[in-house]
Parts: sequence; structure tokens; C-alpha cells
Amino acid sequence: MTVTPSVEHDVKNLDLATGGRYRIDWAELEMPVLRAIRDRFAKEQPLKGMRVSACLHVTTETANLMHTLQVGGADIVLCASNPLSTQDDVAAALVAQYEIPVYAIKGEDNETYYSHIKAALDHRPHITMDDGADLVGTIHKTRRELLDDIVGGTEETTTGVIRLRAMAADGQLAFPVIAVNDSNTKHLFDNRYGTGQSTLDGIIRATNLLLAGRTVVVAGYGWCSRGIASRAEGMGANVVVTEIDPLRALEAVMDGYRVMTMEAAAPIGDIFITATGDINVLDSRHFERMKPGAIMANSGHFNVEINIPGLRAMSEGDPRLVRPFVEEYRVAGRPLYILGEGRLINLAAAEGHPASVMDMSFANQALAAEYMVKKGGKANMAPEVYTLPEELDREIAALKLQAMGISIDTLTAEQERYLSQWEEGT
Ligand code: ADE
Repeated sequence: MTVTPSVEHDVKNLDLATGGRYRIDWAELEMPVLRAIRDRFAKEQPLKGMRVSACLHVTTETANLMHTLQVGGADIVLCASNPLSTQDDVAAALVAQYEIPVYAIKGEDNETYYSHIKAALDHRPHITMDDGADLVGTIHKTRRELLDDIVGGTEETTTGVIRLRAMAADGQLAFPVIAVNDSNTKHLFDNRYGTGQSTLDGIIRATNLLLAGRTVVVAGYGWCSRGIASRAEGMGANVVVTEIDPLRALEAVMDGYRVMTMEAAAPIGDIFITATGDINVLDSRHFERMKPGAIMANSGHFNVEINIPGLRAMSEGDPRLVRPFVEEYRVAGRPLYILGEGRLINLAAAEGHPASVMDMSFANQALAAEYMVKKGGKANMAPEVYTLPEELDREIAALKLQAMGISIDTLTAEQERYLSQWEEGT
């Protein structure tokens, strides 16, 4: 039965709401840290009266974050942070069952994507919550009248934080933003274990390929790529890493991977996975050298890491969609495959990171929003990029361990004394 919700929205189909609600509840079971924060927020109402515009992947995990902010008193609007990452049943449930305005449809075109960002900004946020800095970028470029009301923002991902730091360095950032990505309980877990598992999940769901025995080329060796490389190796792939940073390249070598240039990797790879944050990491000069049947997928935030316009220009005829999320191009008679239109494959063809890891990422988001409000945001903070205080990061780690039923040691008084002195040696 379709309900008539009282909130504005643009979602695919409200009839999907019941199934979406079941899946949101399923994810909640794996999010004990966020649940603990939600229970506290219910009592303390730290976000009371705050208008929050969130631009995040619309998933079951995000739904649990939205509910936490709502319970904490926030007045929220949510739009998608990627045209292909929305789970339509979740979007429907948020509108129909939680009365949260949502603007997000899986597969929306660019024009709709930006009209949804506009709708989220029409909420006149006090707090922006971004994954990729599209809200902050749009406000600074075209909606500067909103700056007066804004207290501050939060940013989820590496790519967004890089952009914000560039804005701050140029003196362009007009309000403080907390880089959630920089918390240890975010990037050490979400980027590594979350991206590692969900990227392979997306590739496998899209292709049903066996990874064992295949050569998987991973572009980059940041936290995300490390996770991808380690999980691909765990499934029996021969992993090759490409890098531009000598330190990271050296780490990859000592972690046991073959390291080479993309030029050298192009003719030997079966599957190529990009997670660098930069453009044209796989380019025409690489496509020319790839084996027939080579598969390319991207796990970075934007769909710029594989030069798809370049591939289209050199390919014979239009690409064929041979399975959902698998497009076949023909280059000099050889088939080459692009997964999920080169958009982040873990959210396009799978469900993104599992809830257990998003639990910590979104605990950081909720605490970042609270921290920003408590501090008074731009009234008391310079327009810079901030990291959450270390004690909050540690608190999240401790809560996660507690929920997992794992106890750890504490320093004895003697050990504490030892660590704080400098006289004692051998
Ligand atoms: N980014 C990666 N995985 C995600 C998920 N499951 N939900 C929201 N954002 C994500």
C-alpha cells in the first residue's frame, strides 16, 4: 500500500518502503556504536533546531545515521552523493517511514543529480554533511547567500577532504569543516576493510568471475587500495600494484606485491581496479596494450579515473551492455569491459561497505555534527579543515571493542610511571 508522506521528496517508488525498512533494521543490528550515540542523542537533543543538509550515498547504513541525527533533534534533508549509489528502497523508507525528505534515484542523470543537490540546499542548512564535497562546492560557487546561516560542515571521504584542503589553502573556504575521513576509526577501517571487501563484492556481483589465479592490477596504495590488494590476494589473485609515491610503492613491494608502471601492467592484467582519486589513471595508451577481455573497475569517488570518453573515441561502434553493470567496448577487435560506468563499483554493483564498518564512520559523522554545534561552529572556529579530537576517536574504538565483547589490558601504575620518565635505561 502506498502511503502519502507529508514530506517533500523525489525518490523512485514509495512502494519499496517496507522492504527498505527491513534492510535498514538489518543494518542497525551491526551498528552498536551508532545505536549507543542515538540513545544518548535521544536524551540530550544536541542537534535541536539544527537544519542539516546531507549529501551521502543513500544506503541502509546512511539511513541509520539519518535516524540518529533526527532523534538528536536535527531537521534533515538527504540527497545522493553519486548518481549510481542510491538504494531506492532505502530512499522510499526514509520518506515514508521516517518522514525525512530525500532526493535520490539510482541511475539519475547529471541534471537530476544537481537538481537534487539544489533541493537539499534549499533547506538552508546550518550544518552540511558531505561525501565528496559537492554541497560545499555548490554553496561556494553558486549559493553564497546560504553562507550566513551555515555553522559548519562535515566531510566523509578522502577525495572531499583533498578538495576542502585545496579550498582552505586558496583562502576560499568560508566555514569550518570536520574531516571525518581523518579519524583513525574512519580511514583505517572503512577505507581499508570496507573498500577492500565491498570493491571485490561489486566486481564479483557484476561479473561472477573467479578471482583465483587472475592478475589483478590495483592502481594506488592508499588505505582503500591496500584493502583491495589484500582482499584480492586473499582470494588467490596475483596482485600487481601501481603507484606514483615512492614510499607507498616501497610499502607495496615489502607487503609482497609486484610493483610496476601502469604501462608495464597493462598487457598482463586481467582485472584493473583504480582507487587513486586522480584522473585518467587508465588511459588510451593503456587500453591499446590490454589483453582481449580485460576488465576495468573504479573504486575512487569520482568516475574520472578511467578515461571512458577516450575509450569510447578509440572503440568500434557503441558499447554493448552484456550484463547489468558490464559494458563491452571493442578496441582493434579486442573486447574490453568497463564495470558500473566507471563509477564507484562497490556502491554501483553492490551495497557499499558493510554496516559493521560504517558503524564507526557514521559514529564519527554524528559526533562531528555534535562537536561542531557545541563549539559554535564558525562563530568560534576559523574556516579551516579540522580533525575530530583524538579522545572521541578512541571512545569510538573502545565502544566498538566493547560491542564485540573484546576486553583489552590497561596500564598498571608502575607501567604508567615508567612511560612518563626518562632516566631509567637498561
Ligand atoms: N560509502 C561506502 N560504503 C557506504 C555505505 N554502505 N553507506 C554509505 N556510504 C558508504
